[in-house]
Amino acid sequence: MLKTSTNGFASDVIDGERLLHRLRELAHIGATGDGGVTRLAYSDDDIRARSLVAEWLAEAGVKSRVDPAGNLIAHVVGRGDSRGALATGSHLDTVVRGGRFDGAYGVVASLEAMVHIVESKTPLWHDLVLVVFSNEEGANGTPGMVGSQVLCGFPVDVDQVDRAGVPLWKRIEDVGGDATALSEAVWAEDSIAAFVEAHIEQGPVLETERADIGVVTSITGRSNLDIRITGEQQHAGTTPMTDRCDALVIAARVIGEVSTLAREGVVRVATTGHITCSPNVWNVIPGLVNLTVDLRDEDDNRIAEATSRIHCLANELSTTTGASIDVRQGPQVPAVPMDHQLADCVSIAADQLALPSLHMPSGAGHDAQLIARIAPTTMIFVPSIGGVSHTPQEDSHDHHLVAGANVLLRSLRLMDQRVGGGDS
Ligand code: GLV
Ligand code: MN
Ligand code: MN
Repeated sequence: MLKTSTNGFASDVIDGERLLHRLRELAHIGATGDGGVTRLAYSDDDIRARSLVAEWLAEAGVKSRVDPAGNLIAHVVGRGDSRGALATGSHLDTVVRGGRFDGAYGVVASLEAMVHIVESKTPLWHDLVLVVFSNEEGANGTPGMVGSQVLCGFPVDVDQVDRAGVPLWKRIEDVGGDATALSEAVWAEDSIAAFVEAHIEQGPVLETERADIGVVTSITGRSNLDIRITGEQQHAGTTPMTDRCDALVIAARVIGEVSTLAREGVVRVATTGHITCSPNVWNVIPGLVNLTVDLRDEDDNRIAEATSRIHCLANELSTTTGASIDVRQGPQVPAVPMDHQLADCVSIAADQLALPSLHMPSGAGHDAQLIARIAPTTMIFVPSIGGVSHTPQEDSHDHHLVAGANVLLRSLRLMDQRVGGGDS
């Protein structure tokens, strides 16, 4: 059970039962049947989940709207004339066969904090904004973090098509956005005084260190490459081994080398997560392979070094095998530090609730890392059981989920007092 403090905030806690109930309700939308969720960005299930959150807000008397980028946004006016709003939120879309909490937890924690504040006798001085970012995960070959990129004023190519051949502008329209008016979605300079995102950790650190709350100090940089290997499609029974240019065999070498880069310490982690092989037939030597590479590190220079080694490898394999190997740069998000003053608010909030906390970097990417480039930003992590995520086995203890939402609520109260002339 949560300990309450004696500093006057003892009853200032979110409705824990309702938070857990709402997480269960969302987990039904796109349920995989084995505890997980597939709720791809812009899909019917994504739209249903977003509508449910909008309904919950409406029940509390809070209006929401979809901005031109497809973000779902709710705005509660504060009682002061402070410059800039406090903002909080996360995403509802998931990876294929993902978990129940990646993204959804931060949305429901933010919603419960907002509803609590609206219903409490002590509203904030600052305006409070809740944002459900559109397409964080980058489903179906679209880039990730589309909604947060637009909010920050970064360019997004809305004509690019996903793996189903549908352009991004159409996907954005499907969730109620308008890709012809993206500039209207951009958050004006100084309009956000602080942004805080609650999230499950998705790794093993908090559980190992027996901490209940992670105070995030930085978010990893990330870079994606698309590699296209064109060999020669030929008969599997008649083509001598010496005369082959097998795109899949070359891809296997690339995949092995990508993993070796991280194992040898050039970059923190490196993954090949998606591959297609053509014609993908048992008695045909593969003529074409497309694969993706995901590189992550807290130091963007190390990502650049790994990228240049992959280019060298591609040139070398191209010369020795005769295949054509095209390495294209995909989406890139630089590493960012979190704001110290906001992180202090999270630390203090955890202390006040007698919850052991730990300062830690985030190895996963988050919309917060884009928002951090335009506004002071921090994140709150709660432990993931066994450290697993992006899998149906993803799980967190109820008491941690409730505790994290209370730390979020209390952090917002502290930020309200400390940030941007909050009690003016
Ligand atoms: C976001 O889910 C990531 O891939 O880190
Ligand atoms: Mn994720
Ligand atoms: Mn996430």
